[in-house]
Amino acid sequence: TGYITIDSGYKNTGATKSAITFLDGEEGILRYRGYAIEDLAEKANFLGVAYLLINGELPNKTQYEKFENDIRRHTLVNEDMRRIFDGFPVNAHPMGVMSAMISAMSGFYPDSYNDKAPDHTDTHIIRLLAKFPTLATWCFKKSNGHPINYPKNSLDYCSNFLHMMFSLPVEEYAVDPVVSSALNKLLILHADHEQNCSTSTVRLVGSSKANLYSSISAGISALWGPLHGGANQEVIEMLEDIKADGGDVMKFVNKAKDKNSGFRLMGFGHRVYKNFDPRAKIIKKAADDILGKLGVNDPVLEIAKGLEEAALHDDYFVSRKLYPNVDFYSGIIYRALGIPTNMFTVMFALGRLPGWIAQWKEMRANKEPIGRPRQIYTGATLRPFVSLEDR
Ligand code: CMC
Repeated sequence: TGYITIDSGYKNTGATKSAITFLDGEEGILRYRGYAIEDLAEKANFLGVAYLLINGELPNKTQYEKFENDIRRHTLVNEDMRRIFDGFPVNAHPMGVMSAMISAMSGFYPDSYNDKAPDHTDTHIIRLLAKFPTLATWCFKKSNGHPINYPKNSLDYCSNFLHMMFSLPVEEYAVDPVVSSALNKLLILHADHEQNCSTSTVRLVGSSKANLYSSISAGISALWGPLHGGANQEVIEMLEDIKADGGDVMKFVNKAKDKNSGFRLMGFGHRVYKNFDPRAKIIKKAADDILGKLGVNDPVLEIAKGLEEAALHDDYFVSRKLYPNVDFYSGIIYRALGIPTNMFTVMFALGRLPGWIAQWKEMRANKEPIGRPRQIYTGATLRPFVSLEDR
């Protein structure tokens, strides 16, 4: 009861208390469970970070091995899921496919939505972490017209993903440690980001007691949007456009300043960071490092740096505190690893999966009530019904 205040886009509305991720947008600080993102990106392993987010503590050696082995045991996907997958057209966007496939998983594990069944949430969590990479690589293989690869469980998580992506029946992919460590770093940087759009979606859907698979599927759909995770695909497309247009970055900076153009600098700006996005800082440095190690010379990296430089010296961007975000340089690295543009947002989803799971679990553990925002009605007042003949 009482007044309803509208906060469009929830710019100032806290939806929950959370002990998972600390973010200070003014200072550019990001920590998972108290650990600095810089430390984790440099020293940790993605599955260890997943464990940390989901369980609250870094695993010890025994806990880590059990977690990794549990995931290994679940990497296969039910062959009947293939029949659903095969029905998609070859050019279906992998994010739409992934959202549908993860939602379909509930059908294969009905205890996920049966309140009377014993609680197997921990197994569902393991299944999601294990099967997501397998499913993601199906999308890539289908787009190439190549047969899918079954997981190879002797490999670690990132290497197994790379094997399923790039091995061919005629030639096994030899995992390049530079590539798998770059992937590990990117996944860690994406692993959680408190109450962003997709995570809030996962919590909101889960608050109705919808099962974990459906909640994560909704998160994937939310992430797909170009203002959120979909921006990483749009950044590369924008950089390619700039290149094709002759490389004049100022032209695009000016276009982004023109509100009538409908164009924004993709990979720029953030709801919470009003200082540099700490993830972007790490990724920018990593891009130089990884492309150098791989001997890749991608002209869009120079265009990206030029664009950043131009924007950061422009009053429009400075006064609005618009800096490069996590999506600005990540695509350049994904591309150097051989991952195609339409898979970039799937890579983001793979990284974000532990965060979504941890937040869903926390929301349930805290017994949060169903999420149900209010509104201020602006429609017609009461009016009499007019029958069809009289309209
Ligand atoms: N290019 C040009 N102008 C911009 C941009 C941009 N990328 N971002 C914000 N602005 C302007 C905006 O027009 C507004 O100007 P004014 O005050 O004159 O009306 C001001 O800056 C504030 O922007 P906002 O849209 O009110 O801010 P928001 O917090 O609602 O939106 C955002 C945040 C990330 C959606 C937005 O900055 C944006 O659209 N960026 C481009 C898309 C992008 O890179 N998204 C990835 C976000 S980070 C990773 C993730 O979440 O997936």
